[in-house]
Amino acid sequence: MVDTSTSICGVKLKNPTVLASGILGVTAASLLRVARSGAGAVTTKSMGPVKREGHKNPIIVEVEGGILNAVGLPCPEPGEAIEELKKTLKGINVPVIASFYGRTVEEFGEIAERISEVKPDFLEVNISCPNVRDEFGKPFGSNAELAARITEEIKNSSRIPLIVKLTPNVSDIKEIARSVEDSGADCISAINSLGPGMVIDIETGKPILSNKFGGISGPAIKPVAIRCVYEIYETVEIPIIGIGGIQNGGDAIEMIMAGASAVGIGTAVWKRGIDIFERICLELEEFMQSHKYSHLDELIAKSHQ
Ligand code: DHB
Repeated sequence: MVDTSTSICGVKLKNPTVLASGILGVTAASLLRVARSGAGAVTTKSMGPVKREGHKNPIIVEVEGGILNAVGLPCPEPGEAIEELKKTLKGINVPVIASFYGRTVEEFGEIAERISEVKPDFLEVNISCPNVRDEFGKPFGSNAELAARITEEIKNSSRIPLIVKLTPNVSDIKEIARSVEDSGADCISAINSLGPGMVIDIETGKPILSNKFGGISGPAIKPVAIRCVYEIYETVEIPIIGIGGIQNGGDAIEMIMAGASAVGIGTAVWKRGIDIFERICLELEEFMQSHKYSHLDELIAKSHQ
């Protein structure tokens, strides 16, 4: 038998597949269902400082090799979201990553503090949503100094291990990675969605998404994600959760070989169904067996050796 378990900041995952933020992450019921389906860890949809409706439909459009989405960071009152997180933590048997965002540096600290009271296994800060520029200005994650200030603020407000989720939409992701590590981040997840991109309906002559632009995810962005994880691994010592276009065991192995200790799966859950976690794990085990690997550690960052 091969050992596919992995460890992030001392927290053990029975396998490296993680439900990425943004899908099936709003209710305890859906998160528990994902855990029962075999995910090694689950991530909530990003919680915010105030109730938000999000964008009007259409918020998602399929393209070749992936999807564009502009959900608009909808969330309930923080109290309500935290209550749901509490319920999730009570019933679940895998680590839970609580994703959140703020509108100002101070707000990131405040919401982190509130979420930490119910003790999720990790916090994941979303400084990389590509869809809400108008209200929030430039995404925080594209500015190394701002990313550092947010990381510091959260680390001063919480003792829960902090994952900082980076955007690929920067000219130098190494600079951002270094900056958040120096400011106390315990782990990096990368990448958030690419773009934003745009799709126009040629019959109406209008953009399909109500927000016009949406973050691109799915297999089309995998090579960008692999390159980002590779560069981040070269730059920092903290562990990496690799996300972006993973839909089978081979994709997960490639991401792990790029330097990830675990892999996030989002669009493939939407596209292929909830049994994707078990299928990826099975393919990973078969590969390890046939290639004579006994532990996942032997695959991590193999492309750097
Ligand atoms: C949304 C948030 C994200 O971080 C992302 O990558 C795509 C969409 C959203 O809620 O709109």
